Amino acid sequence: MLPSLSPDEERHSRAAEAVIRERLVAAGGWLSFEQFMEWALYAPGLGYYSAGSVKIGAGGDFVTAPEVSDLFSRCVARQCADVLAETGGDILELGAGTGRMAATILESLAALGILPERYAILEVSADLADRQRTRLQQLPAELRERVIWLDRLPETPVRGVLLANEVLDALPFKRFTVRGDSVHELGVGLEGDSFVWRERPMDLRGEPPELPFALPQGYTSEICLRVEPWITSVSQCLERGMLLLFDYGLPRAHYYHPQRGDGTLRCYFKQRAHDDPFTNIAVQDITAWVDFTRVAEAALNCDLEVAGFATQAAFLLGTGIEALIAAPNDVADRARLASEARRLLLPGEMGESFKAMALCRNLQQPLRGFAHQDLRRSL
Ligand SMILES: C[S@@+](CC[C@H](N)C(=O)[O-])C[C@H]1O[C@@H](n2cnc3c(N)ncnc32)[C@H](O)[C@@H]1O
Repeated sequence: MLPSLSPDEERHSRAAEAVIRERLVAAGGWLSFEQFMEWALYAPGLGYYSAGSVKIGAGGDFVTAPEVSDLFSRCVARQCADVLAETGGDILELGAGTGRMAATILESLAALGILPERYAILEVSADLADRQRTRLQQLPAELRERVIWLDRLPETPVRGVLLANEVLDALPFKRFTVRGDSVHELGVGLEGDSFVWRERPMDLRGEPPELPFALPQGYTSEICLRVEPWITSVSQCLERGMLLLFDYGLPRAHYYHPQRGDGTLRCYFKQRAHDDPFTNIAVQDITAWVDFTRVAEAALNCDLEVAGFATQAAFLLGTGIEALIAAPNDVADRARLASEARRLLLPGEMGESFKAMALCRNLQQPLRGFAHQDLRRSL
């Protein structure tokens, strides 16, 4: 049972549903799931990320690693410091959520004595951008003055670091199911006033690319065709440095494993995960895991080097999380950090399902976040 909607959420969801229903009818009664998700999450003024619900953090629908603990962002900052020491320049964060990671990274880099010239944020959600401004306003002037918001990717390529935590999983994706010798796309239709799954043959044009096994009848999964254009446009704004990505995901052979026959689509509403995107429309998040082989292929096509791929746990250990936990003199502080770290590190929590991937251009030095583990051969 999902928690019930507040009267405001109910009103908002009904209004968003009505708009999508109208567009679905105008489109002839069928929408790709990718289009449905785009409107449910990003329709201006209506979509989940475009309107005013709390979304991220303990009082919202889901909690991300930077919200679990600042240890995560302090480790990311250490990796950024190494890269900035070689390249100088800026940090650009894509999809900065509440702004907490940006704030912690800037504070950590100040303590390490290696600040970026600018900390730029590109945020598609006006509502989250407002929250980021409020949060980052509280930083000391020397840090606060480095933060700028962009409304599109920069035209002049950046030297330094590009960061994206849990952005790839928020890109709209398609769903498909295997029927006989063909693949059917699972799109969205209407039954009365309700949204329902509707199949039609799908021209995947070689997608998903060759797998080492045949997918069984009824096998259902997701494919995110927006990864390539996203990586291409982001890579174009990296002159020299590192694009560091974190997300839950798998190499392709595991992603499309025959045993994962229901795919990875998940919705998040008030800290509950479920698999019905047609309920609570525009007041719940919709995501799918990331096919990291697809990300790596897209990166190689853009002349980026896949410089590291590891679990989140290995990345955090490589960037010194243990020393950060042990640092406080106060026992209670150490115990609190240890408990937060367990959520970030344990395999049953975020440690293994979340991965870190570094995509680099013209960078010489090894990356300490990937010194503990190299999963690149699994891609
Ligand atoms: C799941 S939230 C993660 C937020 C934050 N990075 C964190 O870890 O708490 C997804 C974020 O990606 C942003 N986003 C979605 N699509 C994007 C895109 N195409 N470019 C940049 N940001 C995007 C959303 O607005 C939101 O801030």
